[in-house]
Amino acid sequence: MRVVLFTGKGGVGKTTTAAATAVQAARAGIKTLVMSTDAAHSLGDALGVLLVTTPDDPDPLVEIEPGLSALQLSASHSVRRSWRSVQDYLLTVFKGLGIDAVVADELTVLPGADEIVALLELRTQIEQGPWDLVVVDCAPTAETLRLLALPESLAWHLERLIPAQRGLLRALRPAAAAATGLPLPGAVVLDTLRRWHASMLEIQSILAAETTSVRLVLTPERVVIAESRRTLTSLRLYGLTVDQVVVNRVFPDAAAPEGASPALSSPGSDQESTHTAWLAGWNEAQQRGLAEVRHSFDPLPIVIAPYLSHEPVGADALAALAEACTGAIGDVLMAAPAQGMTVRPEEGGFLLTLPLPLVTAAEVDLKRRDDELLVVVAGHRRVLSLPSVLRRCVVTGAVVRQATLRVRFVPDERLWPVKERESVAPE
Ligand SMILES: Nc1ncnc2c1ncn2[C@@H]1O[C@H](COP(=O)(O)OP(=O)(O)OP(=O)(O)O)[C@@H](O)[C@H]1O
Ligand SMILES: [Mg+2]
Repeated sequence: MRVVLFTGKGGVGKTTTAAATAVQAARAGIKTLVMSTDAAHSLGDALGVLLVTTPDDPDPLVEIEPGLSALQLSASHSVRRSWRSVQDYLLTVFKGLGIDAVVADELTVLPGADEIVALLELRTQIEQGPWDLVVVDCAPTAETLRLLALPESLAWHLERLIPAQRGLLRALRPAAAAATGLPLPGAVVLDTLRRWHASMLEIQSILAAETTSVRLVLTPERVVIAESRRTLTSLRLYGLTVDQVVVNRVFPDAAAPEGASPALSSPGSDQESTHTAWLAGWNEAQQRGLAEVRHSFDPLPIVIAPYLSHEPVGADALAALAEACTGAIGDVLMAAPAQGMTVRPEEGGFLLTLPLPLVTAAEVDLKRRDDELLVVVAGHRRVLSLPSVLRRCVVTGAVVRQATLRVRFVPDERLWPVKERESVAPE
């Protein structure tokens, strides 16, 4: 089964292109589910059907046409209730620390509750559904990225809240609480956090699977391209494979081959010439934008979706949009080559590589923390759990070359004496 996620800046056409891809795939005989992780209910609007269900709904699927079903969830109260125990605990801690109640409230809200519910449902559909393809329409980039970082931040909380054994915690609680003046989390809180963490890890493994890829949707405008470049880097940082860039809302003349000038009609009235100049201005801006897209995202395949003269609503209109795209938007069953972290032996040590497009070494911050390597790029933090051979090594250098972060490790003599180092291959 293939999972294809559509993400990008707000309003660029994620929902539309995701739905168009799903309709086209279904009509080509691929059994397809299209679902949205976005709380805004626009997937139903794009498909022209009513699609709002809760996870408690026994049959949340809506069949759009043969071979195509759709699903739109909104976070049920049970999700918020389950998080509530953790939130209440955190609130008492924050209160103890003298943090303002309003700020504390903000800090303890579960980020992306709707997306989490949708991704948990994605997991269920992958395990139990009859699908060859699941197309996921994601919320705007910032929310999706925050969600991707969630398992690691939850893990961070867990490590600090849960000592190795719960029994130990129980024994220590009165003393520890007295020492710090702060309450320790109760069993319900710990259980909730554990369950959340386990679910998050499952979601993360689905997102990082070889059969999952992301399509980055953008429009050919400078601001959007700049954000999309950062998104590509962040998605790679979190281990997602991007297999296509979809440039949406491209004017017909802007998509003409580079160098060809847009067809200008000879102006008649003043109003007409103002209009022609306006159009020519946009065509030119989009041509420049497209050149920048090609330059930024090469060698990723780029699909160009035309700016239609109407909003594509309903399966037929979406199929027509997919047909009008240049490039294989419907080429969904081919899994993209993996772009994950690799480790290989090299001159007396090991080389870890992580593809990180569009960054310079100066933008990457690297920290070693026990068995983990922390990689920070533009405020996004990824904790890479090191394979066991690297745990016994020290970092001797790091560079960014050919869109790849390369970190050199050499064995630490204290942890891993020479005589023990025979025939060890990296996992
Ligand atoms: N190629 C296109 N031609 C004409 N209209 C389009 C095109 N693509 C999208 N639209 C219209 O633009 C609007 C926004 O599109 P859409 O809802 O797909 O964006 P989105 O990226 O999902 O937005 P959000 O960030 O709010 O989820 C919709 O009204 C849609 O019908
Ligand atoms: Mg949308």
